[in-house]
Amino acid sequence: MIQACNISKYFGKYQALNDVSFEIKKGEIVGFLGQNGAGKTTLMRILTTYFLATSGEVHIGGANVANNSLLVRKKIGYLPETPPLYSNISVKEYLKFSAELKDVPRKQHTVQIDRVLEECDLFSVQKRPIAQLSKGYQQRVGIAQAIIHDPEILILDEPTNGLDPIQVLQVRKLIKNFENQRTVILSTHILSEIEQVAHRVLIIKAGEIIVDDSLAHILEEGSLEQFFLKQHGVENYE
Ligand SMILES: Nc1ncnc2c1ncn2[C@@H]1O[C@H](COP(=O)(O)OP(=O)(O)OP(=O)(O)O)[C@@H](O)[C@H]1O
Ligand SMILES: [Mg+2]
Repeated sequence: MIQACNISKYFGKYQALNDVSFEIKKGEIVGFLGQNGAGKTTLMRILTTYFLATSGEVHIGGANVANNSLLVRKKIGYLPETPPLYSNISVKEYLKFSAELKDVPRKQHTVQIDRVLEECDLFSVQKRPIAQLSKGYQQRVGIAQAIIHDPEILILDEPTNGLDPIQVLQVRKLIKNFENQRTVILSTHILSEIEQVAHRVLIIKAGEIIVDDSLAHILEEGSLEQFFLKQHGVENYE
């Protein structure tokens, strides 16, 4: 479903990703973990066609992301690190606009908009301008636009950042609902979240994949937190 082969990315002379390769199968839920600046967002931007890799190739559903960006963007639902929300329009108008962008058939607009308003608990704010919403509600709008076209693949960059505990549960449930049918990649610093939803873990350190393993296998040795700290040469102070 997703194949990344030997991806490297330079920003000028700075190398943000170094020879990254992995494969993700349909139905998998994969967590990207790594310290601030490790390269998670950069990798997601390459997978979603927003950045070109300096070298290497990514194929999604057989399509090369570098020359099929429109096709790939329709297959994918993407929640960027900072969602590009058009701030002076209402939540509902923005979702209508997103549905049009993703080629959701006009007849299905109402049904799909109502579905995401429900799933992201946005009914009560649907008429408000996005700029006036709290940070957490803006994040929910970002998630709502990512799932408006019921995509095969969801790529979520820190999806629960800023959400209240109830909404965190809802997003986790939403991700779990994708299990086995769709493919989900998410990044987060909340390791317990990965323990609850992911099948597989990729740990990125200074632009390289240092771990690509099943969650079950990692947990045989202890908690994900202990494992993560050990991979970074840090003692657990407990
Ligand atoms: N547009 C850019 N221009 C120059 N450098 C960049 C750019 N985008 C990212 N970088 C650099 O690439 C490295 C990886 O950044 P990236 O945003 O991918 O990290 P991250 O793993 O998502 O971190 P965080 O956990 O803080 O979100 C960082 O050193 C960052 O400064
Ligand atoms: Mg990031």
